[in-house]
Amino acid sequence: MPIYEGITTEKLHVVIDIGSAYTKLGFSGEHAPRCIIRTEVFCKKTHKVRKIYDYEDKYDLYDLLVDFIHILYFKYALISPKDKPVVIVESLLSPTQFRDVLAKVFFKHYEVSSIYLLPSHLVSLAGLGIETALVVDVGYKEATVIPICFGLPFVHSWQALPLASQSIHSNIKTLLASENMGMVDINENVLEDIKVRCCFVTTKTRAQSWNETKPTITPCPDVEYPYNGKSSLKISGKLRETVYELLYVEDNDHQCLSTMILDAILNVNLDLRKILAENILVIGGTAMAPGFKSRLKEELYKQLKCTAYEKLKVNDFKFHSSPSLDNYTAWLGGAIYSHTELIQFKSISREDYLRENRIPDWINLKDNQISLL
Ligand SMILES: Nc1ncnc2c1ncn2[C@@H]1O[C@H](COP(=O)(O)OP(=O)(O)OP(=O)(O)O)[C@@H](O)[C@H]1O
Ligand SMILES: [Mg+2]
Repeated sequence: MPIYEGITTEKLHVVIDIGSAYTKLGFSGEHAPRCIIRTEVFCKKTHKVRKIYDYEDKYDLYDLLVDFIHILYFKYALISPKDKPVVIVESLLSPTQFRDVLAKVFFKHYEVSSIYLLPSHLVSLAGLGIETALVVDVGYKEATVIPICFGLPFVHSWQALPLASQSIHSNIKTLLASENMGMVDINENVLEDIKVRCCFVTTKTRAQSWNETKPTITPCPDVEYPYNGKSSLKISGKLRETVYELLYVEDNDHQCLSTMILDAILNVNLDLRKILAENILVIGGTAMAPGFKSRLKEELYKQLKCTAYEKLKVNDFKFHSSPSLDNYTAWLGGAIYSHTELIQFKSISREDYLRENRIPDWINLKDNQISLL
């Protein structure tokens, strides 16, 4: 029986949040995940590392998940999944095919006793002890916004756009190629490292100055990034400061991160709008970039002056600060909920799954899974 820090893990439930870039794994009732690992496996056939979310079809996904969950349990959790309950934190917007295959792998391949599925936006509020907030998740693939009102997700008001780390990585690649005259062939992990170590979100005024033909501002210092063991890449001050700008630049449909938030607020009843604007919770690893939240606030106030949002009748925006780091706020919510007795009533047992051969849909009112209370 594995023992960590004097606590036996035998009676704890494994809590897993499988993100498109990183998977957070730990035990119920704990304050942080035991590990955060890349959501990828080494494929023995092709001798390549494959991201789980880049699956070709459901059969391919099944094989990838079997390998990945094996690593999660036998390399990191160090317990056998057989006849144990598992808690999965997942986005309400995650593809049905993914959750169906995931359930099949857990129930049929690993024979877990039950699965407790928790919607990530909703459980993120557990650490704050509030029931109403606008949850903005800026992770790897996309930014998603879902209002949670009185403990219920208002799914009809959701907003999602591919404005997250994946786009920022491609932006760094393009900017590096233009600055180094197309000589750069660097992989995603290096791009991520450059982003986390060297880049930050700048202020609105400085971002506007960079757009001028002859910027008058003093750029921040360039950085020599060691690369390949022998050479180094020059990361210019401009690149360091402007890579996150794509989150705030409106696309052809006049959509960006700040308009998503305002549109989500606009889609709820008038009396809830002010409450949501004053209870914003930003989660997801991308939001950990220095300057991210203060810039987002600046952008929200700027957008508020546009005629499209005059009818919002909101004057103030307030952000909550979660007791966890932003990248595992949802996981922490899962760990809190799974430590309550709700797990006994709300879990889907293996017997039920084998009888019905499906797991209930979040949006299906008949299944009544979406509310936790
Ligand atoms: N301190 C940091 N500064 C900037 N970016 C960060 C920081 N820490 C993590 N990130 C970025 O956050 C991203 C991962 O965030 P997160 O773990 O929320 O994504 P995910 O849950 O895997 O994705 P999704 O929720 O979209 O499925 C990575 O691209 C990582 O580079
Ligand atoms: Mg996530």
